Amino acid sequence: MTSRFTDRTALVTGAGSGIGRAVALALAAEGAHVVVAGRRPEPLEETVALIERAGGKALAVTADVSRAADVRAVVDAAVDRFGSLDVAVNNAGVFRGGRPLAELADDDWQSQLDTNVTGVFHALRAEIRQMRTQPAGGAIVNIASTFGLHKRTPGATAYAATKAAVSVLTRGAALDHIAEGVRINAVSPGATATAMSLRPGETEAGRAERMEHEVPLGRVSAVEEVAAAVLYLASDDAASVVGTDLVVDGGQTA
Ligand SMILES: NC(=O)c1ccc[n+]([C@@H]2O[C@H](COP(=O)([O-])OP(=O)(O)OC[C@H]3O[C@@H](n4cnc5c(N)ncnc54)[C@H](OP(=O)(O)O)[C@@H]3O)[C@@H](O)[C@H]2O)c1
Repeated sequence: MTSRFTDRTALVTGAGSGIGRAVALALAAEGAHVVVAGRRPEPLEETVALIERAGGKALAVTADVSRAADVRAVVDAAVDRFGSLDVAVNNAGVFRGGRPLAELADDDWQSQLDTNVTGVFHALRAEIRQMRTQPAGGAIVNIASTFGLHKRTPGATAYAATKAAVSVLTRGAALDHIAEGVRINAVSPGATATAMSLRPGETEAGRAERMEHEVPLGRVSAVEEVAAAVLYLASDDAASVVGTDLVVDGGQTA
């Protein structure tokens, strides 16, 4: 078994479900101590239980990434409990779409901006401030989306704008901080097998049928496939990869 993250401390936001949970489990399986963050405690405790049952170490910290103080507290908790912060995966995100831009409510706009953009900014800032004090620095992976690149989807304009911002934040922060030993990249998933890629009222079978037509590969990506890309970028295998945006989308934006 490979163990690229033995004795490293990793933080994953939005780790109570979907892609974030898969990333947390994969990091723990390769030896990381994992701090899992999100707003609801119960799903986080489930992720911790899954990691501990497999013999790993994890800590749940309730946090809303739109609040700077919450994010700083998560980073402090990681360092207090495990001694460092070596890897961070800024995955927490929300999608409020399905409507043309002119029909978008203020709250739908603001909540996506607060979590997807301001949340990533808060996380990057707190993580970089910790990592640059460490002799070995650190690696950060932001979860953006093909919606922010060149996938065209009506009804998802605000979400797409927030995810484009994540890609831009990634590149800029990567350039700002690589000389301090903090390596920053992004993964842009396409449709992935979580609740977020289901249309309102759609079943998994319905989504599978839709994906046969929408995705050149003919299916959604598994959360483990997205996690594998995240772990690559977070690992020393990607030591010279800086500011990139790795697309995992079955060819949808090829
Ligand atoms: N699924 C896809 O097809 C797809 C495609 C491209 C990109 N993505 C991106 O991948 C990431 C993960 O999405 P997913 O598909 O795994 O969906 P998900 O299961 O809904 O996961 C999102 C996670 O983020 C947490 N979260 C939301 N707002 C938060 C906040 N303000 N503070 C802290 N945590 C927050 C949620 O937990 P709480 O509600 O408990 O806070 C949840 O665990 C998102 O950034 C999403 O935009 C997904």
